[in-house]
Amino acid sequence: MLSIGVLAGLVTAAVAYFIPWLPDAAAEEAGTIDNVYWLATIICIVIFGIVVGVTVYSVFKFRARPDDEEDGSPIHGHTGLEIFWTAIPTALVTAISVYSGVVLVQNEQADPGRRLVEVTAEQFAWSFHYPDEEITTGELVLPVGQQVELKMTAKDVIHAFWVPEWRLKQDTVPGIFTRLLITPTKLGTFPVICTELCGLGHAVMRSRARVLDQAGFDQWVKEQKEAREGGGGGGQGKELFASAGCASCHALADASATGAVGPSLDESLQGKDAAFVKAAILDPDAEIAEGYQSGLMPKNYGDTLSEAQIDGLVEYLLQATGGG
Ligand code: CUA
Repeated sequence: MLSIGVLAGLVTAAVAYFIPWLPDAAAEEAGTIDNVYWLATIICIVIFGIVVGVTVYSVFKFRARPDDEEDGSPIHGHTGLEIFWTAIPTALVTAISVYSGVVLVQNEQADPGRRLVEVTAEQFAWSFHYPDEEITTGELVLPVGQQVELKMTAKDVIHAFWVPEWRLKQDTVPGIFTRLLITPTKLGTFPVICTELCGLGHAVMRSRARVLDQAGFDQWVKEQKEAREGGGGGGQGKELFASAGCASCHALADASATGAVGPSLDESLQGKDAAFVKAAILDPDAEIAEGYQSGLMPKNYGDTLSEAQIDGLVEYLLQATGGG
């Protein structure tokens, strides 16, 4: 019994430890969250080993012999055992919840100098508004080593914000604000994933989080402001096609995009004019290409892109598909 239990425990421990279930942590808050995970995982492995040991042992030890036609003898339970297996899990679950509470309090220590970013989720897109900088974008860009407060809400249904590398996850709920405090510790680009089944486009409701050094962040802020005020132009349109998320759903040969959620733009924009393309970006459900679903494309491009950016995107798309 003991050896079976130990074997089961070792196999599960190896599965938990050697398979990289989560990417490397990239936020200050992630370390303590990982500790909670490990505490719960280790407790589960030990209990799993005991249960498997007792089960496998009992299956062989107490099975009916081939010539045994009798009913099993009646059992009236075992009070001592029942108290034991109620008390131990109670103590373990209490320990996990107390430790989780401690970690939650630690991770919710707000730094007075934190940056505020307002996050709005809607079917099926994210937008990020920087009130101090007066910028709204479709990707989350943050400077490394500084705490940020995400003040989050949703326009339509419940969504959930998750960046696996930061470990932190929070629902976004229509009508109320939820918040997350994050201190990114690593430079890089990380996925922003919606983890609440929110409709047909849930699987494509992704954006990205980019963590830059302070100089890079300042430069980005400057570029965003210039882009909002300045003009579009084909070059900027191509860049926007990638950064605004068009490429993940639409195919476009010129941008090497192969998305298949929405219609191929090489085909659907044939012979169309600027007015059509602009209307299709701002009010995507007004006209749906045959064979495709309405309601999948985000309706917030009028908020996240400036007029000049949309014009730049339209100009680029016409140029790339040979229309105009
Ligand atoms: Cu939004 Cu899933």
